[in-house]
Amino acid sequence: MDTVSRSRDWEEVYKNNKFDILPWFRKKLDQDVVREIKKRKMKSGAVLDLGTGPGTQAIELSKLGFNVTATDVSKSAIKEAKKLTKDINFFVDDILDTKIKNKFDLILDRGCFHTIEPSDRKRYINNIKMMLNKNGLLLLKCFSDSEPDTGTGPHRISESMLNDLFTKDFLIEKINHTEFRGKRKPNPKALFAVMRKK
Ligand SMILES: C[S@@+](CC[C@H](N)C(=O)[O-])C[C@H]1O[C@@H](n2cnc3c(N)ncnc32)[C@H](O)[C@@H]1O
Repeated sequence: MDTVSRSRDWEEVYKNNKFDILPWFRKKLDQDVVREIKKRKMKSGAVLDLGTGPGTQAIELSKLGFNVTATDVSKSAIKEAKKLTKDINFFVDDILDTKIKNKFDLILDRGCFHTIEPSDRKRYINNIKMMLNKNGLLLLKCFSDSEPDTGTGPHRISESMLNDLFTKDFLIEKINHTEFRGKRKPNPKALFAVMRKK
């Protein structure tokens, strides 16, 4: 599976579609993220919503009191998301070639990592690590390998893949088996990982 390219032209996706029909669209904050930040009593801090797409997750985090930056590789996604609020610093950035110099207390990746090609994963991890403060948290939600693999769409990710890739730089606090709630039914099976930068 790792040799199959599943890359998409993200700019085409957002240029040609309304946000609310996209399979990953969820107006409310993802339930796994809600649970995690409530449990930790987190109410403030610098957050990066990586691969923000429609911007919904960034907007909900900002409403909770976080100081949110949100980035995406698609210009059209960022242009549309910017129209929704002035409270978020939205801009175009490719995580594989990031220009971001700031550091964050928390990075949310809901659905970006699993679109990254296997050969680019190390680069993704190095850049995430660079952007997190000491002890900063990464909340990562991706398709799991329990979701049937049709050969298209996001890469299916197993717990052991996350362990192998992230353990060197992150303390993996937990990996939960969960679902992606969006427009696609039945809900795709997902992993939700909570990791702390070492
Ligand atoms: C499945 S969508 C999820 C969007 C959003 N996080 C959400 O939950 O609604 C994946 C997003 O990752 C973005 N993306 C893909 N590769 C990226 C990269 N290299 N750098 C930044 N964003 C990227 C895509 O443009 C897309 O918006």
